[in-house]
Formats: sequence, C-alpha cells, structure tokens
Amino acid sequence: MCGIVGYFRKEEGISITLKNRKADNATFPDVLCEGLRRLEYRGYDSAGIAVRDHKGIRVVKKKGKVEDLEAAIQRNNLNEKYTIGIAHTRWATHGVPNDANAHPHSSMDGSIAVVHNGIIENYKILKSSLEEQGYKFSSNTDSEVIPQLIHFFYKETNDFELAVQKTLSKLEGAYAFLAIHKDHEKIIGAKNGSPLCFGISDSEYIFGSDEAPFIDKTRRVIYLDDKDMLTVEKSAYTIRNFEGFDIQKEISEVPYDLEAIGKNGHEHFMMKEIHEQPETITNAFSSRINHINSLAVDNFPNLPHSINRIISLACGTSWHAALIGRYIIEKNTGIPVNAEYASEFRYMKPALFKDDVVIAISQSGQTADTKEALKLAIDSGCYCAGIVNVVGSDIARLAGKGLYLHAGPEIGVASTKAFTSQVIALNLLNLLLNSNRAYRSRVVGEMKSLPDKLQQTIERTEPLIEEIAQEFKNHSNFLYMGRGINYPVALEGALKLKEISYIHAEGYSAGEMKHGPIALIEESMPSLFILTGDGVGYSKTLSNLEEVKARKGRVIALTDNGKNLKHILTDKDYIIPTVETIDELSPVINIVPLQLMAYHIAKERGCEIDKPRNLAKSVTVE
Ligand code: AGP
Repeated sequence: MCGIVGYFRKEEGISITLKNRKADNATFPDVLCEGLRRLEYRGYDSAGIAVRDHKGIRVVKKKGKVEDLEAAIQRNNLNEKYTIGIAHTRWATHGVPNDANAHPHSSMDGSIAVVHNGIIENYKILKSSLEEQGYKFSSNTDSEVIPQLIHFFYKETNDFELAVQKTLSKLEGAYAFLAIHKDHEKIIGAKNGSPLCFGISDSEYIFGSDEAPFIDKTRRVIYLDDKDMLTVEKSAYTIRNFEGFDIQKEISEVPYDLEAIGKNGHEHFMMKEIHEQPETITNAFSSRINHINSLAVDNFPNLPHSINRIISLACGTSWHAALIGRYIIEKNTGIPVNAEYASEFRYMKPALFKDDVVIAISQSGQTADTKEALKLAIDSGCYCAGIVNVVGSDIARLAGKGLYLHAGPEIGVASTKAFTSQVIALNLLNLLLNSNRAYRSRVVGEMKSLPDKLQQTIERTEPLIEEIAQEFKNHSNFLYMGRGINYPVALEGALKLKEISYIHAEGYSAGEMKHGPIALIEESMPSLFILTGDGVGYSKTLSNLEEVKARKGRVIALTDNGKNLKHILTDKDYIIPTVETIDELSPVINIVPLQLMAYHIAKERGCEIDKPRNLAKSVTVE
C-alpha cells in the first residue's frame, strides 16, 4: 500500500499550500513532495520523484521519509523548469526498503519512469522472460517489470500509449501506476484494483492515490475505475479502457478539506483503518490465491515434511490472532498448535524439537518479547518463519521467510486491520498445510467473497453500534464471551474496549463463565456474546447467555443467524446482526462490529483514540 502522485503543469508559476502554509512559486519538486507528505499514511519507508523536461528524465529516490527525499533533491539541484513529474512514497511489499527498491523505477535506458502502487503477481515470470531478452534489473521489486515491459513494447511500436496498453495486457495483480517517457510530454495512468484519482484545475492536472495531493487546489476530481487508462497531455486528457476504446467519465466534487487528509475523511486513523479492511484483507490474499480457487503460496520454503508441532509466538492482538490460528490449523490439519505469549515463552525454558515449526506473529515486527522469543527458537534449530506487516522489520529479517500482511501502515495504536489480515494469513498457512483440494478450493472461494461481506457488515451494523455506544458509555465493566473460534474474538473485542475507552473489559470462553465470572453478573454488568455458525458452539453459548438472563444481566448478542435468541432477550438487550461465512473466516467479520463498538464508546467518553494513554504502537522494550 503505497502513495503515488502525478503532476502535469499547464502554465508557468505554481502556488500551493506547503506544510499547511500558503507558498507562491514553490518549486516543482516541492509540489510533488508536499503531495507525498499527504500520502505518507499509505507508506513511509522510502520515497522518490521523477521529473521531465526537454533534456530528459531526472530521478531522485531515497530510503526514509519525505524529508530525507527533500534533502536528496536539494543535493541534486532539481530546479529546472519542469512541466511533468511523478512521485511515490513506499510501503514495501517485494524488496526491503532501500534506495534501489524505492520508486520511481526506470527502464534499463532511463527513457521511461514509473511509480506503482499494488502487487504484480506474475512479476517473476515477466522478469525472467525480459532477462532472456537482455534486460538488466536493478531492484528486487515486482514494480520494475512495468517500465521494462513498456520499453520492450515501445521498441516495437514507437507509440507510448500503445506500449503501455500492451504492457497492461501482460500484467496480473492489483495495481495503479503512472508512467512518463523522455520523448513525450505526457503522463499515462492505469488502474486495476489499487486506488487512483485525477484532479482537474485550470492550471494543472494532478494524479493521486487519493484526493490529498490536490485538494487545496481543486475539488474537481475523476475517480478512475478498474481497467481505466488515462493519458494527460498539454491540451487535454483522454480516458480509455485497457482495450484502447475511449470512455467518458463524470467529474465529481471532493466532499472534504485538507484537514481531513490522511484519514480519508474520518476523524481518527483508527476509524479509517477499520473502514479500509475490505481493501486490506484483499491485499492479504489476492496475490496468494489464483483465479482457479487454488493456492499460490511459496513463502515457506523447505517446510519440514512431518511437522511435529506448530508454535506461534506473539503478544497482545497478535496473540489473539495466533489463538485463532490454533483453532483453524489444528482442527483442519491435525497438527498440534501452541499459541504462546512471547513474553512468557522466552523465560520458560521451552522444550523445542527439530521438527517443530515456529511462527512469529507481529504487526510492527519490532516487538521486543516476540523478537527475543524468536531468537531462542532460531538458536534451538527450529524451522522459523514470520507473519509480519512491516517489511524489512527486525522480526521479518530474523525469520527470513513467511507472509507479509500488505495491510499498509497501521497508525492507530489499537490494532484493527492488521488483526483481520493476520487471520487471513493464518488461513493461508492452514490451506498450505492441507492437502484436501476440495477443502482448499471451498475456503479460497469463500475468501474471495469476504471483502463484500465485510463491507455489508460495516454498513449494516454501524448505525446500531452508535446507539449501543450511547447506551453503554458510562459503564465501567464489560464481559465478552464466545466459544471455539469466537473465544479469541471475545478476547480481542475486550482488548479493544480496554485500550481506547479505559473500561475494564474481560474476554472469556463462554464455557468458563460458570466457573467464576458469573459471580459478576448483575444489571450493571453488560455481557456481549458472540454466537455464530450452527454448530454445538452456538447452542452451548446460547445456554450460557440464558444463565446471564436468568440473573437479570444485560446482553448484547453478536450473531449471524439469531436462531432461538429473540424470545430470551428483553427490550434492554441488543442483537448485532453480522454476515454469515465459514468458521475459519468468521473472526474477520465478527471482530469488526466489536472494533466499531470500542471506537464509538471511546468517542462518547471523549478519549484520545489514536494515541491512548500508557500505550505505544510498537513495544520495543520488555
Ligand atoms: C493492540 O491493539 C496493541 N497495540 C498491542 O496489544 C499489540 O498488538 C502488541 O503490542 C503486539 O504488537 P505487534 O503485533 O506489533 O507485535
């Protein structure tokens, strides 16, 4: 998940809001960098620009944040009269953050430059066939195949647009990119899966991964759809589909201002991250499943043939995901799985065996306890891998193999989108370890429908959850309960409420309630039950819910079918209806209403949602 900007200046002289202050006659690179700064919430591990004038294309790119790029631009004296430029701020997916892997990427002769957001799934095949044609690559990224392919077809056609069109017919995956050519005063943009929009003002045209780069200059925007290709040149812009046929697009009005930037119009990063989960879970699986519902995962090379046991190491929310992984993998593969608190594991002198497989799960990839626990497993000679969001982070490098989440930067301290992507990653690991093709195809098929089901769940439940938040905002205790795979979802729901609203919330296996927590039940103690699916877990949880109702406890029931529920509840209780899916994927759907509930209750209580007290986004100390 990266941020891309394209800038086409029609007239001399530029004025723009820089670092929130009005600046006239800003330099061309300034404008590009300001655009990147506003997209840094999409990625910030490296950045770069390419500008074009009659002499050709100049590229400056650097590992680090936009200010590191600005320093490099200073050193390179980019102060010519440029009219065209493209820029990129990166969230690494393929190739660790460094100068060579930063964008823009160029064709071997430097005549074409490209910035790309997304994943080219078939890049390895394309790269090796281009290498056979004598092309030399200078990065480990998937993106570099784009300018090289355009160059290959440009040699054939001597037509920039046609060369891009032919390239599009070869690419597989989710992407949006911008391309420039040294001999053409044009920017060509193409979208297929990743976001791309186009701002129109009297003096300039501006591309962006969202409206941020141009919102202080124009509210007139065209949102490109998948398989759209937009060419902008001095006098005009044309939009065609990937087959080359012209299409008309309506110009819309951007509904919010500069202030709302980075949060996509939401008040907090946490809310933005909750709402972008349909997109981020797609990023987590789309490059690992193919069009015939089968798996394409090669991230765990030389996995032991007979796995003695899987041990997951994690903390906090990642540990809840690890627990869900246990339910999914042990049930469907018969391989024993231990979900270990890393902070405990590293001091308990664990018995580790040669054929044990150890998976370190971490959003940040920097959590000290998980890192040290992983080192211990590596030193014991176990097969170790990681499920991590931040590319190139310590845990990712230590593990050396595994799955990246591709969820993009998670800014809100309370983890949300990383959790749902971790559940997807653990489902992919489950499928990798499962030889039953019919089962695999069924889960992959359902996975593809999940983003829409998640979008429905958000739209369907949020209005009701705002009402529930109003009702329960002054409570100081809360119980969350579920059975089976819903137990770790209850733990995660309780953690979210604790973290940002400071209400004392506890997650419990519903079956454990009568062994203690039931003593807490009274009118002022609300209990949230997660009842989904039609297995024994549902009916057993229902009877636990009845035990609470028998003691006049208030109940919130989160359910995908509500069977035999209504008559048990009173008008003081609530039902949150979610969308049905298979057990393995249900945590991805069921946790989101609980994230929204924590958010709205915390908001009602006026809490500091993105940076809650006493917490850090990445716990790099013990
Ligand atoms: C979750 O909302 C918290 N931020 C915290 O529990 C977090 O999950 C934990 O610190 C682990 O972080 P990691 O995934 O980056 O390793």
